[in-house]
Amino acid sequence: MGRAELVPPHGGRLIDRTGASKAATDPAVSITLSAYQQCDLEMIGMGAMSPLEGFMGEADYHSVCDEMRLTDGNVWPIPITCAVDQATADKVGVGDRVALSDNMSRLLGYMSVAEKYKQDKPKQAAKVFGTDDPAHPSVKVLMEGGETCLAGEIDVVTARHNPMFVEHRLTPAQTRAEFQRRGWSTVAAFQTRNPIHRAHEYLTKCAQEVTDGLLIHPLMGATKDGDIAPEVRMKCYEVLIEKYYHLEHTMLSIMPAAMRYGGPREAILHAIYRQNYGCSHFIVGRDHAGVGTYYGTFEAQEVFDTLPEGGLKIVPLKFEHAAWSKMAGGMVSGKTFPRIEGDQIFLSGTKLREMLKRGERPPVEFTRPEIADILIEAMKDE
Ligand code: ADX
Repeated sequence: MGRAELVPPHGGRLIDRTGASKAATDPAVSITLSAYQQCDLEMIGMGAMSPLEGFMGEADYHSVCDEMRLTDGNVWPIPITCAVDQATADKVGVGDRVALSDNMSRLLGYMSVAEKYKQDKPKQAAKVFGTDDPAHPSVKVLMEGGETCLAGEIDVVTARHNPMFVEHRLTPAQTRAEFQRRGWSTVAAFQTRNPIHRAHEYLTKCAQEVTDGLLIHPLMGATKDGDIAPEVRMKCYEVLIEKYYHLEHTMLSIMPAAMRYGGPREAILHAIYRQNYGCSHFIVGRDHAGVGTYYGTFEAQEVFDTLPEGGLKIVPLKFEHAAWSKMAGGMVSGKTFPRIEGDQIFLSGTKLREMLKRGERPPVEFTRPEIADILIEAMKDE
């Protein structure tokens, strides 16, 4: 079998800012990264955020907020910044090389500070998240963060101490190598921050029909309170794939990105990540990366139509709302079967959690029994 030709990385080149050595002398300033910034550091370092080589400077910051592109013209929907508090900002000068550490003061890497600038929080909230409501999880993070951003290229020494799921934590270079080993050139990526329910499964299997392979690619970085714990989700994915998927056409790997709940803009960011991981197609269903009622049900699909021609090489696979239909006796979507009052089984995440808390079993039309077992068990420990 010839080597499969994969989609090129965003911007044309896969960035690698990993493999740096610990400096012989510690820099004068060490910055403790937030949970979100740590995720960004890991993603930038291994090229999942190509073409970014570090935290964004001011011109890119404004260009991304206003025009959804970097100053070099590449599409980019959400600023990737390193905001710090005033005391830290005062200690750092442009041209300094600062250490970056986690909340236990362990070294992660370095940043060569090229710029220091004030971020425009109201503008970012309005343009990027479409709201200034502090109840929005990312608006809250933004508002609580520092006013000053440090920008510059980063070098990663150790992206994460004691990372979870090491055997399923492939970098973009590694997923690309694995796709090639398997002879896949078209790969559909599935983003999720939940256990896989029947509707998700339906989407992924429709995608599998038209691609060489499926990458189940759960987001496992920082998420908001109330989302299901990573260990529980991982167990669900492993059990489900083993029992209900074709192993030759399915891969599981995690993505250590932070969730931003940014609806349409985040859907584009999720697609960029997956293009960097080597995927040709990206599944976008209803209310992708949504939270509350901030975004329209299909806004995260429509936004792809606003991008310039060739802006992204990865192709969105757009899905209507899917659910089990009693009348059709199977999974359907708004495109394959008419919506008939009382026919389809819809369960919201909140409703599902309430059921699980009461020890009630979600219906098999919504969740595979093996997944329901894991979730009910996990709820007992909460
Ligand atoms: S997300 O924040 O990662 O988007 P979630 O894990 O719920 O949340 O969804 C994963 C993907 O499945 C998203 O593309 C989402 O739009 C899609 N999706 C979830 N439920 C449905 C459904 N019932 N019908 C169609 N698409 C869905």
